[in-house]
Amino acid sequence: MKLARRTAHIDPFHVMELVKRAVALEHAGRSIIHLSIGEPDFTAPEPVVDALERAARAGHTQYTAAVGTARLREAIAADYRRRHGLQVDPSRVVVTAGASAALTLACCALVDPGDAVLMTDPSYPCNRHFVAAFDGLPQLVPVGADTRFQMSEALLRAHWGPNTRGTLLASPANPTGTSIPFDELGRIVAAVRELGGFTIVDEIYLGLSYAGTPRSALAYGDDVIVINSFSKYFSMTGWRLGWLVVPPALVPTFEKLAQNLFICASTLAQHAALACFDPASLAVCESRREAFRERRDYIVPAMRGLGFGAPVMPDGAFYAWLDCSRFGDSDALATRLLEEAGVSLVPGADFGRHEPQRWMRLSYATGLDQLQQAVERIGRTLGPG
Ligand SMILES: Cc1ncc(COP(=O)(O)O)c(C=O)c1O
Repeated sequence: MKLARRTAHIDPFHVMELVKRAVALEHAGRSIIHLSIGEPDFTAPEPVVDALERAARAGHTQYTAAVGTARLREAIAADYRRRHGLQVDPSRVVVTAGASAALTLACCALVDPGDAVLMTDPSYPCNRHFVAAFDGLPQLVPVGADTRFQMSEALLRAHWGPNTRGTLLASPANPTGTSIPFDELGRIVAAVRELGGFTIVDEIYLGLSYAGTPRSALAYGDDVIVINSFSKYFSMTGWRLGWLVVPPALVPTFEKLAQNLFICASTLAQHAALACFDPASLAVCESRREAFRERRDYIVPAMRGLGFGAPVMPDGAFYAWLDCSRFGDSDALATRLLEEAGVSLVPGADFGRHEPQRWMRLSYATGLDQLQQAVERIGRTLGPG
């Protein structure tokens, strides 16, 4: 059977082979510490679970409006007001099946065949593929420690070409755990506006920021498209619930695309998510944010002590982007650490093409005791730093 050409532009995750091997080792009785996981080790706050149960028993299971329930859209808008001091009209909020569906809708709405979209290298692997799924061209911008592994206005202008239609950013980012300095983000938005393009900012990790109060790109104008999710800050990955805030004029387009592509996001999850904004739930999420910060404060210096490079202190999410060049190629090192130390990390190859063999992603979405054990094991395998 002939497959669509676009499928050739979508890569599988390299790391899956490593994950399969880790699972096989575990089945054979080995203890494996997983520092490769891209989701919180916590689960949904208790009030959300209670709300889910109530919604299910009350039979709230029919489809909702494609853009989400009015109550959830209002609750999300109210949260921008309360926690960010931003006025967002609820009609601009489009509720989706996670940030993934939000990114799908945004690319479906904005990317024509042959359109280039600027994104950093390294970045979240699926970003390349959301663009490729609509026959667009992901245009990778190599970034380094000098820009905190992030886009800058200068890089954006230098890479903007005749086919470039916009940029897809994430702040804080996966795999680096770094944010775009807020002033710089403002300059990027202004430059894109001047160039007549679109700016999409994935703020899925914004709630997990460790340097001051998180600030949303929505502050820079109604024309910025912001994506967020209940997956990370609220520890609800499998609930499949997220949202976009889109410019007022684009709402009808996003609505008709959402109707046709997804019908709606999970109704039960939408009902339960209202409880995310209860003070009790927010208090739980804030204490988890502190737990992540504590883990970061332990793991980054500890990995530096073992001889890994961490030229930039990550300021968000639960990732550290580590330079492992001292120990050789990141693919070979990931295999060695798994086989010999029983610790799994993700080599750089999945995240881009810029020096992937030099970098590894460490996820600290696991308890401090596990992190300490991992450091001990890696130290024993690699010798003194
Ligand atoms: C940067 C980034 N964006 C989006 C997603 C997808 O999240 P969701 O579970 O909300 O679809 C992830 C998941 O790891 C991510 O790291």
